Amino acid sequence: MKERIAILPGDGIGPEIMLEAVNVLLAVGEKFGHTFVIERADFGGAAYDKSGHPFPDATKKICDRADAILKGPVGGPKYDKIPDADLRPERGGVLALRARYHTFANIRPVKLPVGLSDFSPLKPRIIPDGIDIVMIRELMGGIYFGKKEEGMMPGGEPYALDEMRYTRQQVEAIARVAFREAKERNAVLHNIHKSNVLKCSVFWNAIVEKIHTEEFPDVTLAHMLVDSAAYNLVLNPAQFSVMLLENMMGDILSDEGGAIIGSLGLMPSACIGPEKSYYEPSHGSAPALAGKNVANPYSMIGSAALMLEKSFGMHDEAKCIWDALFRVFAAGYRTGELANAFVPKEKIVSTSGFGSIVVKEILEE
Ligand code: IPM
Ligand code: MN
Repeated sequence: MKERIAILPGDGIGPEIMLEAVNVLLAVGEKFGHTFVIERADFGGAAYDKSGHPFPDATKKICDRADAILKGPVGGPKYDKIPDADLRPERGGVLALRARYHTFANIRPVKLPVGLSDFSPLKPRIIPDGIDIVMIRELMGGIYFGKKEEGMMPGGEPYALDEMRYTRQQVEAIARVAFREAKERNAVLHNIHKSNVLKCSVFWNAIVEKIHTEEFPDVTLAHMLVDSAAYNLVLNPAQFSVMLLENMMGDILSDEGGAIIGSLGLMPSACIGPEKSYYEPSHGSAPALAGKNVANPYSMIGSAALMLEKSFGMHDEAKCIWDALFRVFAAGYRTGELANAFVPKEKIVSTSGFGSIVVKEILEE
């Protein structure tokens, strides 16, 4: 089978970590006898520099004909100054990509096997069994895609407005994804909300309850306020397995997820659409690390593994990548941000160093 993959390296550390993910894909192709047809395209700030648009037509064409898209992080201080916000990498690139393929479900695994608990800033007694959470974030609604406005109040006071809106269909669709995940994991579904303040949350919760009663009565559903969830993620993350989150709440708590497992560099993600999905690290382009060959490529390699699993149904291939990643960590190798005082110097590896060891693990296993 020939799978066509659009590769969008992006900005900052994007091209460096993408190179390692592509090397891993090629290794998996070789091992399992798949041909991955890879087409690279400019996206984000890099595309803006070349063509004046973060998601140019040529890139759209390549994405349109791909079976799946692997995207690196985008943005950076230089691009925050683009006067038209719709041409900045986030609004004109990332949000436009999400809208084009209607990638409504963002799956963000927050996973730290017990043997790697020392990556986490939390005390070992808090995470005796490691951390294993899947955050399911709604990605096409809420304040991200609501009306945006700047204007003058009648009295002459300037104001800005971002509207938060959810439709029933949007909530139903993401709730089903979360219930299915909880059912599969035989776990409690934590629905995160702010119903003590937001109309949208009251509406959201009622729909989640309805889907629960009508379609997933055997799954245990728990509700938690988002501020309390932020607190509980640090004090007792073990209570969570599957979390259902509205778009912006998911954006914020998934970064907290990266923090409790020790690094945003450990946060791959899948953005699932009805026909096509794309895969990206949950973190930004880390301009301060760019070009230094120090960034952790795990999030990008993990995103490639999620792609194999979710877009191509290649479960053994994905498992082969995850196993290789964790074997490399178990052997003691760490990128700089995960290394502490007790890690011997020779085990601290660069971006390309980490990628090569993972490739070697895949090919030799
Ligand atoms: C993320 C990012 C994006 C978001 C930005 C780049 C638009 O922070 O994927 O978490 O806010 O969704
Ligand atoms: Mn984010």
